[in-house]
Amino acid sequence: MPTPSVPDTLDSSIAVRQHAMRALFDQFDSLYEGAIAVDCQGRISWIDDKYMSMLGLRDPQQVLGRDIEQVIPNSLLREVIRTAQPILLDIMEFGQQSFVVTRLPLCDAGGAVVGAVGFVLYERLAHLKPLVAKFASLQQELDAARRGLAEHRRAKYTLEQFVGDAPATAEIKRQATRAAQRDVSVLLLGETGTGKEILANAIHAMSARAGAPFIGVNMAAVPESLLEAEFFGVAPGAYTGADKKAREGKFKLADGGTLFLDEIGDMPLPVQGKLLRVLQEQEIELLGSNKVVKIDVRVIAATSVDLPALVAQGRFRSDLYYRLNVLPIQLPPLRARLADLPALCDALLQEIFERNGMRRRAVTPAACTLLARYPWPGNVRELRNVLERACILSDRVRLDVDDFAAMLPADVGRAAPAVRPYAEALADFDRAIVQDALAAADGNVPAAAKLLGLSRAAMYKRVAALARRAPPA
Ligand SMILES: Nc1ncnc2c1ncn2[C@@H]1O[C@H](COP(=O)(O)OP(=O)(O)O)[C@@H](O)[C@H]1O
Ligand SMILES: [Mg+2]
Repeated sequence: MPTPSVPDTLDSSIAVRQHAMRALFDQFDSLYEGAIAVDCQGRISWIDDKYMSMLGLRDPQQVLGRDIEQVIPNSLLREVIRTAQPILLDIMEFGQQSFVVTRLPLCDAGGAVVGAVGFVLYERLAHLKPLVAKFASLQQELDAARRGLAEHRRAKYTLEQFVGDAPATAEIKRQATRAAQRDVSVLLLGETGTGKEILANAIHAMSARAGAPFIGVNMAAVPESLLEAEFFGVAPGAYTGADKKAREGKFKLADGGTLFLDEIGDMPLPVQGKLLRVLQEQEIELLGSNKVVKIDVRVIAATSVDLPALVAQGRFRSDLYYRLNVLPIQLPPLRARLADLPALCDALLQEIFERNGMRRRAVTPAACTLLARYPWPGNVRELRNVLERACILSDRVRLDVDDFAAMLPADVGRAAPAVRPYAEALADFDRAIVQDALAAADGNVPAAAKLLGLSRAAMYKRVAALARRAPPA
């Protein structure tokens, strides 16, 4: 480059600028990874080969004239046109990658914006690496925080989170809402994974105690020897080796709020007696002291076993059973509310997406039909596990039949519905839904009729027909 020999300082400064510009442009070509230009309407008017190959495109005609966002969804070139301001340094997400980009408005001789040009600087600029790394780590932190938030929300279920609007589900929600308005013990009955814990949370959240704690204890998870201390707390120095400090029991922690006793059927008999006393007296005695403390706790108990049977076997105190069974709510198994399956899949996949940060998946109608053929002994919990596994094992965004077939028993995957006389199939279907409704309503015919939206008379007719057709015992 010739050294400019100019007499005065003004000319000299112009020359230096020109010099600098030329040097910059010579350099620039080797600094960027791709360039693209749009017209004043934000339509692609030019793209260079490097950008083409980065986008995996071969023919420029594929993109010329198209809106920039159709090709580069996160482009801000339209913003540059609107504001006539450059965005000199930015990080743009493209698919899984982060590009460092520069965006400049293009102006005509009169200064009017006629378009914009964008450069991808990408990773050639070694000194930008710390910036990109910082961005990546912030992004990770953000993802983790989002997942944490999803987790946190999960702990505070409301009735909206009890997904489903099948008749049996709607009935459960109605009963829960009514239970919330009364400050009495509630007993949640239902197979494992039917949502008893969600419902307990929801009842608390809808009750006058919503502002106070919701404390859960799972009888099956706490060793018998620790259960009493867990419930009633420990006085300071109660026994050798015990903490010098007092330890609050769950009853005290739940004071003013709700205590959720999960798997109540697993409660040892001696503890049952103490629990009954607490419920009657509304006061507790700290282990290792004779100090009595007043407490105000509402109990919601849950069980997946047949409590009356335990009572009959002498393994559960009948007086405690009656005390807890003031307001029983029977949760139907998933197979009795298959109409909820699509909504449940959708909600569970959303939750899996929020927690794991994997891609948001969906389930095809055919896969949903397959899932509906499985009896789901583990109910919604099992459904959640199956969906989570499918998300891990499959790359498909729309999970399909063969993503599930291998996980379910072979006969579920294979069984093509047999073709039978219409009347026979219809009668079987009729019988199945009547039986399911009866099971969900604990054998109560009027309640079962309500679940199905049938009149009592129609229901009794069906039950009678059922009895006639039932095979001899
Ligand atoms: N109606 C529902 N809507 C959404 N998720 C549900 C529902 N029922 C159960 N689940 C999910 O299934 C799992 C088991 O529910 P949980 O309340 O612990 O069942 P249970 O206490 O009856 O064993 C949880 O992950 C819960 O989020
Ligand atoms: Mg449970």
